[in-house]
Amino acid sequence: MNKSTSSTSNSESTTSTFEDSNNPLFKFENGRRYLNDDSIQYVLPNDDEEIDRLQMQHYLFRYIWQSNFSAPVKEILKCGAKVLDIGCGPGTWVLEMASDYPRSNIMGIDIAPIFPSEIKPMNAEFKIQNITHRLPFDDNSFDYIHMRLMLAVLQEEEWKNIVLPELFRILKPGGYIESQEFDFRIVNQGPCMKKLAEGFILCCNAKNINPIICPRIPGYLHENGFVSVNVLKNTAYYGSSSGRFGKLALEDFVSVFNALKIPISSIFEMSEDEYQSLLDNLQEEVDNNETFYKVYRFIGTKPI
Ligand SMILES: C[S@@+](CC[C@H](N)C(=O)[O-])C[C@H]1O[C@@H](n2cnc3c(N)ncnc32)[C@H](O)[C@@H]1O
Repeated sequence: MNKSTSSTSNSESTTSTFEDSNNPLFKFENGRRYLNDDSIQYVLPNDDEEIDRLQMQHYLFRYIWQSNFSAPVKEILKCGAKVLDIGCGPGTWVLEMASDYPRSNIMGIDIAPIFPSEIKPMNAEFKIQNITHRLPFDDNSFDYIHMRLMLAVLQEEEWKNIVLPELFRILKPGGYIESQEFDFRIVNQGPCMKKLAEGFILCCNAKNINPIICPRIPGYLHENGFVSVNVLKNTAYYGSSSGRFGKLALEDFVSVFNALKIPISSIFEMSEDEYQSLLDNLQEEVDNNETFYKVYRFIGTKPI
């Protein structure tokens, strides 16, 4: 994980350090901060703890792929391209892309203002935007659109009939779209991970979200007019067999499930102690089972 240690950490410059409790934008539940908007179906918080997790998760993804993207856009990025990151979170991908490709303009949009507001490169920009609404961009305006980890954000209907059609509209002919996703069908699950994963799926289903979205994305891209759809797959292990990576990947998993302790334990009518013991057993379980997961990059282009 040596690459990750040199990367930008931006949590100090996000709005989450403001006086949150007086900010009507946010609400607090069980000690975690969420957007104060019941129309948002996303189940995870947006506080500093979650920002740290998303930053770490960025480095895990980058390590798995040994790159920030796979679409064939390197040359246009070097010359100067217009790039949009959908649901950018704390903006770690945007900031890295902006510093790697100084001639390009990289914009990130997210419903939660957890991205840097001031300290950022000149060619990086962030905007608060609900991605299930019409996007405030002209037709044919971006060379490359990136989105990552939207599995617990969008309903199938939104993927298919709202978000991808909008992205097709604003992408330039010949431009590329790239969606990176985690496949929630974790392989070689032991009983504790199985229970937690089932809880996550039920939590998402309660919001009409199907987090097992990877098998659907290529079809959604085709249906929306994207062509030359290419699917790249990678795998990563949770356990000690993959050293520091495996440890951090499991920490990321545990951090998600710490945030979901109340909803999942109540779905299963389980005490907090019982829930905690599921988390406590995970390390041994993933080591014994050689548990691993798959990640995908789905790439498509808008016909010229
Ligand atoms: C799992 S995070 C992924 C963040 C980032 N793409 C990454 O890979 O680090 C999902 C993000 O989607 C954002 N989000 C949730 N619902 C949204 C919506 N309706 N419109 C825009 N962003 C949304 C959340 O605020 C969160 O930052």
